[in-house]
Amino acid sequence: MKDELHSLLPMLRKSRLVALKFLNSSAGYFLLILLAYLFGYFSASSSGHGGSPRQPSLVSPLPPAGAAAGEFFPQPRMADTSEIRTTPTITASTMIKEFRVTTRCAGRVPPEAVRQIVLDRVYDGTSPFQGFPPPHVSGLLRKKTIRGWGSYGAVFANLIRKVRPRVIVEVGTFLGASSIHMAELTRRLGLDAVILCVDDFRGWPGFRGDKFGFVRYVNGDVMLLYQFMQNAVYSNATGSVLPVPFSSGSALQKLCEWGVQADLIEVDAGHDFNSAWADVNRAYRILRPGGVIFGHDYFTVADNRGVWRAVNLFAKLNRLQVRTDGQHWVIDS
Ligand SMILES: C[S@@+](CC[C@H](N)C(=O)[O-])C[C@H]1O[C@@H](n2cnc3c(N)ncnc32)[C@H](O)[C@@H]1O
Repeated sequence: MKDELHSLLPMLRKSRLVALKFLNSSAGYFLLILLAYLFGYFSASSSGHGGSPRQPSLVSPLPPAGAAAGEFFPQPRMADTSEIRTTPTITASTMIKEFRVTTRCAGRVPPEAVRQIVLDRVYDGTSPFQGFPPPHVSGLLRKKTIRGWGSYGAVFANLIRKVRPRVIVEVGTFLGASSIHMAELTRRLGLDAVILCVDDFRGWPGFRGDKFGFVRYVNGDVMLLYQFMQNAVYSNATGSVLPVPFSSGSALQKLCEWGVQADLIEVDAGHDFNSAWADVNRAYRILRPGGVIFGHDYFTVADNRGVWRAVNLFAKLNRLQVRTDGQHWVIDS
């Protein structure tokens, strides 16, 4: 055995010399680089990343075996990496789109059917003015107390003359100053118009302290709806005004679902940006093509200029023009 190994030594020395010579040549150098590359490539593929750029790992590692509760704090898990690929890039303009109202409304019902639809859906088919005021309420109401803000401005007559509306929606009615004024204007023009008065008839927290203490408050229930109705009765406007006593959001959504479209919409409820923004967006959904939407307090600095900001942003996003009439903003569709 020892002799055999001894006889192999010159052969091994010779092949080492040949190998060293080969590696010193350019062909040997090239082969070495190729082998190094192939080794790197296969080891990367087997780790699961292939040749693509590395993504940060979104699935947390499993807790180490035997880790005690509380020792291991996993990173947020994302169940499926396709979530990463489908999340759109967020920019200012895509972000604002999330706040837009894009509900598709039902097909338009004829203007002459609108009053009955609202009576059926809101009042079981009976006018709320029937038998009004009920005995338990009459002693709590004033015969007539109508107070508003800019509720007799020229904009009302200007728009009603121009649009000749059959269906008017008012968002924010309070004691009825502007809606009863519009009822009078349509009557003078001989228009058979319905004026849907959307208001939760709660006013705002503490409103009775703002010179409205005459509106009675009984066991936490404010008599605003009833005083508005009393004002409508006194003004002989019950044939046209109809209260829709819910929050603006839910009422406008339902009108949209019922196929009610308005020729003229006045927005005058909450004046902070979020309220005005939601109301204008929702109201616009139920404006018939060619109709006009308008509202009060465009120039007020109150509520951090909420109306101004909301209306301008809405007009800009929808490529509409805002014009003004006194303190009112007006948008023609
Ligand atoms: C400024 S007053 C309306 C004045 C009325 N347009 C006028 O000229 O006499 C605002 C009214 O909006 C109502 N309002 C405010 N936020 C509302 C909301 N989210 N839903 C329904 N009504 C709301 C209040 O109850 C209040 O009666």
